[in-house]
Amino acid sequence: MSKSTAEIRQAFLDFFQNKGHKIINSSSLVPAHDKTLLFTNAGMNQFKNVFLGQEKRTYTRATSVQRCVRAGGKHNDLEKVGYTSRHHTFFEMLGNFSFGDYFKKEAISFAWELLTSPQWFALPKDKLWVTVYATDDESFNIWEKEIGIPPIRIIRIGDNKGAPYLSDNFWQMSETGPCGPCSEIFFDHGEDVFGDPPGSLGEEGDRYIEIWNLVFMQFNRQSNGSMLPLPQPSVDTGMGLERITAVLQDVNSNYNIDIFKELIQSIAQVIGTTDLKNKSLHVIADHIRACAFLIADGILPSNENRSYVLRRLIRRAVRHGYDLGAPKNFFFKLIDPLIHAMGPVGHDLRHQKKRIESVLKIEEEQCSKTLEKGLIILETELNRLSGDTLQGDILFRLYDTFGFPIELIEDICRNRGLKVDKYGFLHEMKKQRQRSRNASNFHIDYSNQLFINHTSEFKGYKCLTLHAIIILIIVNGKIVDTICAGQNGIIILESTPFYPEGGGQIGDSGQLKSHNNACFTVNDTKKYNKAISHHGTMKNGIFNKGDDIIAQVCQEKRKRICLNHSATHLLQASLRLLLGKHVSQKGSFINDKILRFDFSHHQVINKEDLRKIEMIVNKQIRYNLPVEVNTMELEKAISRGAMALFSETYGKYVRVLEMGGFSVELCGGTHVEHTGNIGLFHIISESSAASGIRRIEATTGEEALFYIYQKNDILTELCQLVKTNQCQIKNKVQTLIKQKNTVEKNLNKIKFQQAVQKSKLLRNKAIKIKNIQLLVDHLEYLEPEMLRLIVDHLKNYFSSSTIIILSTVINNKISLIVSVSLDLTKNFKASDLIKTLAQQVNGKGGGSQQLAQAYGLNIQALPMALSSIKEWIPTQLK
Ligand code: SER
Repeated sequence: MSKSTAEIRQAFLDFFQNKGHKIINSSSLVPAHDKTLLFTNAGMNQFKNVFLGQEKRTYTRATSVQRCVRAGGKHNDLEKVGYTSRHHTFFEMLGNFSFGDYFKKEAISFAWELLTSPQWFALPKDKLWVTVYATDDESFNIWEKEIGIPPIRIIRIGDNKGAPYLSDNFWQMSETGPCGPCSEIFFDHGEDVFGDPPGSLGEEGDRYIEIWNLVFMQFNRQSNGSMLPLPQPSVDTGMGLERITAVLQDVNSNYNIDIFKELIQSIAQVIGTTDLKNKSLHVIADHIRACAFLIADGILPSNENRSYVLRRLIRRAVRHGYDLGAPKNFFFKLIDPLIHAMGPVGHDLRHQKKRIESVLKIEEEQCSKTLEKGLIILETELNRLSGDTLQGDILFRLYDTFGFPIELIEDICRNRGLKVDKYGFLHEMKKQRQRSRNASNFHIDYSNQLFINHTSEFKGYKCLTLHAIIILIIVNGKIVDTICAGQNGIIILESTPFYPEGGGQIGDSGQLKSHNNACFTVNDTKKYNKAISHHGTMKNGIFNKGDDIIAQVCQEKRKRICLNHSATHLLQASLRLLLGKHVSQKGSFINDKILRFDFSHHQVINKEDLRKIEMIVNKQIRYNLPVEVNTMELEKAISRGAMALFSETYGKYVRVLEMGGFSVELCGGTHVEHTGNIGLFHIISESSAASGIRRIEATTGEEALFYIYQKNDILTELCQLVKTNQCQIKNKVQTLIKQKNTVEKNLNKIKFQQAVQKSKLLRNKAIKIKNIQLLVDHLEYLEPEMLRLIVDHLKNYFSSSTIIILSTVINNKISLIVSVSLDLTKNFKASDLIKTLAQQVNGKGGGSQQLAQAYGLNIQALPMALSSIKEWIPTQLK
């Protein structure tokens, strides 16, 4: 009996644990603090800083089963899924890692032992082929001399992708960062399967399948292409769990391994198809895995970056489902079967099941709507088509904007005897790819960041004033010995009470002072690697490197920050209590004035719920819960109820903050001692921060009081203004509004009557030229609206062949109106006449051919403008 996927996953970890490796959990699919990556795409991602020498761990050997997504970014297999038997957007990667511990020799022997030893995977040795980087003699010799592989089955591969170090045997995580030559192990599926050995022309076939990649990490690639050596040579290996399982279960497609077989069968059932061989089922099975784990790791579908990839995955899967005849709203129903098929890994999804299902359901609903809209557009385009080919740009718009399956468009066109311009479509697609590549910000070169190799000790949890030694001064980006009055700069201290910006909390402000009154004002505090940097201006005197100074945090500001930070914890716990466990932090910002908390939640929070949340938080404040801080192992913290954020990396020991039994969080920030110190918590606003993410802004302590006072003051002033008290104000304002409406109505009546009167008087002023009535006049001090009313009346009177031009001045501003009856618009257009007038009075205007209005500022020029047009019109009638 062959091993199940779950057994293979476990066997891998057991093997490397026996070899002294520490088992490390899979990290999130959203890489922590790494802008060079779209998704976690390899087991080594979470160890990147360890390879670069920027971070030390307590272990030098590690092993993991890492969840990876390769859809978008440098390693992208999205388009291949459904067409090959071994590509996935989501897969699990088995890996072992050495951080400056063992290198090529051990890495190769471990791999060989696991794959071939009868105790472990027991693969026949003669079925295994290997590749090495062309110049890597050392690896070649190890494979040949120590492992005993005949040289014919060891293939050297050089830079076969058009540039130095671009090779199948040189692995790099992204455009910059750790990389090195690699050696890959291939399994030969035998003569019955088509394909040639790696490195040959027919290598693309399915006969020789790469199962394991051993990377010998040696360089840190810079954005200019140069390679800096890593501090110590290291090892990073990666073996796709699904591929090795296919080999061990003796099937030649990953989609035939136990977990996929089960999943595909369940999907077919939900969709209602019996065509189990249909490739669309592969796509759906692959994509439901990627979608579920991406959503579990906090990504929600939308139109940007990672979220856009998720949206594409959902839409692609849904479309394949519909192709197979799936009923609407089928996709979310696959979560249950997925959790079951994934075995132990599926457990990680269980507690988020409801949320994942609801996200998928909403997205599918939206997606089917856009498909419907797309159909209408397609119909319009087909109706207006003059030739027999639907152009590429239209195809692309339908595909890109409406997620419209290109095959479906082809089908529809074929039925009507039309063709599609696929070449044009591919061209548009290429342009789009280029655009998104250009727009992507996942290429940041972190090697250019300011790298300060000092360590400062943070002592600001307990004290706010401290004697400290200056260990580094930076002015204008350069390390200097002295900073003088008037200069801006950065100062690093050996130890400091200043909290560096982090965990959403802003950096502290304050002063650094010497005994002889030299003083540096600190405006902000940040962290660079392990150094805490004070940013600000030298106010008096000078500081030298090595000076013993007094660091003084601004107490009042810090106190207010603490209130807001502690209240944020209470807010998070209250949200989870009231809205549900799906609420998780998506971002926070805490300063001395407000706190802002972003969290995952799909709906607007109504007024009543906001009140309830505010009440819960204030209740915890009144309970005056003790705020306790303890350092403990991550596992223990999680078992106590702390939520580890997927986007963070944590060391073995973490700082845990508990507020009574109400809130437990991992946090490095500064806090109050008892919740009672917060005094008061008041929500200022609730809004949307992004799709599926809500934002609450709130304030605490004295600030909250001020905020409430301010509102109260406005109310009191309003009461004084309308001469009533707070209990009566609502009635009073309603009465005033009613009164105002009645007065306005009456006023309008009067204005109307006035307009009638005025228009009667004006009728006589019209002059007749040929068969045209021309009325040009200036009226004293009228609202522009009255001009309009008067013109309406005059138009009723002179039903045709009339031009009316009226002006008035009110508040130093001219208003002009021109009306031309329909029968004259051929020769005179109101919109043209008004422009001519407006120009002359330094104004602007516009309108239709029959009615146009303008304003103007040059009152002196108005009489001239009116008379010139009055004279000009008759000249046009000769
Ligand atoms: N990082 C390498 C890969 O992804 C080996 O783990 O192939």
